[in-house]
Amino acid sequence: MNEPRTPARYSEIFRLDGVADPFPAYADLRQRAPVHRLVQPDGVETWFVCRYEEARAALTDPRLAHHLSHARTALESAGIELTEERIEFGAAHLLHSDPPDHTRLRGVVKRAFTPAAIERLRPRVQQITDDLLDGIADRAGADLVETLAHPLPVLVICELLGVPVADRDRFRVWAEAALTPSYVENRPMTRAAGDAALREYLTELVERTRHDATVDDAAFDDRPDLLRTLITARDEQGLLAEREVVAMLYLLLVAGFESTTNFLGNTILRLLLERVSLDRLRDDPALLHAAVEESLRLDGPVQRSTLRTAVQDLTIGGVAVPEGSVVSIGLASANRDRTRFADADAFHPDRSDQAHLAFGHGRHFCLGAPLARLEGEIALSSLLRRYTTIRLAVRPEELRWRHTFLRGLTTLPVVFTAD
Ligand code: HEM
Repeated sequence: MNEPRTPARYSEIFRLDGVADPFPAYADLRQRAPVHRLVQPDGVETWFVCRYEEARAALTDPRLAHHLSHARTALESAGIELTEERIEFGAAHLLHSDPPDHTRLRGVVKRAFTPAAIERLRPRVQQITDDLLDGIADRAGADLVETLAHPLPVLVICELLGVPVADRDRFRVWAEAALTPSYVENRPMTRAAGDAALREYLTELVERTRHDATVDDAAFDDRPDLLRTLITARDEQGLLAEREVVAMLYLLLVAGFESTTNFLGNTILRLLLERVSLDRLRDDPALLHAAVEESLRLDGPVQRSTLRTAVQDLTIGGVAVPEGSVVSIGLASANRDRTRFADADAFHPDRSDQAHLAFGHGRHFCLGAPLARLEGEIALSSLLRRYTTIRLAVRPEELRWRHTFLRGLTTLPVVFTAD
């Protein structure tokens, strides 16, 4: 297949106006071809992989690299400045690395995220959730983003990493600025400023922790927190460079809460909109688990920021993609591909096929997936144990975070009835 003729209007998926409901555009694109060349508002040409089979294969294709330096020509031709310093920091970052660096970097932290290690966190995650819900116990309603979906993952990841919880509101501002594409206007802080503030803060924190033996150890158990694990890997084992310590913290902190906050908000909203029987979910943990996976498939927080660069000419689904191209793997579009999932746009809480791509696939498969799932399960089951009914207090159109590649909510006001 030659390059498909894709009407320019589909580049709307990169604009805020097009993001409230990008799914009809994804469906049209899937219908036309597996891959399309689209142009972002900043001029970067992006090859968008929209069908399931091609997206899954692209996620493990060694010709599609992560390393930022490969994307340099494409980004520079669109006028996007990629400084040496930014490339170096990007390269130090697990998500932007290829083997052998990726293997070494993931090796330092992977033991902390195995399903068994995460299962040991269960009592503490439950305690944090209970404390948060106790905080709203006397209220007839609450904003569940502010009171649960945001603080839960932040508190958990801060404890796991050993980062002071008191700084959590600052992280949110910086992380959201750093994650917002540069072409979005009317923003409270530029992308570069958010990114720099977060890096500066983490660099100081590493120094402070290194010289302060009295900083609290993790509350989870008697293991050292991840901040100390990373410092030991650098100072005593020589496994990491200094900038890799900061880059890993940066990634874990941002990935650890932003995606999970969006996932929790999206899932609660979906259950309320679909009027899924809360009694059924309460009584059947297997159904609750399946409903969470179905929400990840239908409303995954990561829409298409899974970016790669072609390190040689290749064809994807028969479409020729030249060396140097930036490739965006459309997880959210793939997850609604009806050639893979029957009745793909509908929410079936008991769907048994859970092979969605919401956490990616292959070598870079989300390290934090077991933790996100644990938090989802505990947050939902705890809410359901406390309240007989939960109703949305506003119209759903008012809730979405206007973001072009992450899907989430800014607010989720609900009204409760307890027994
Ligand atoms: C990677 C999604 C929660 C840490 C990824 C990727 C996706 C993803 C799609 C792969 C990106 C790619 O291939 O380009 C999600 C979703 C989450 C979530 C939907 C919540 C529902 C978390 C949490 C953590 C985390 C809680 C950490 C505590 C990471 C890390 C990577 C990653 C470190 C990079 C892995 C690597 O490159 O080897 N995540 N994530 N994520 N995620 Fe998550």
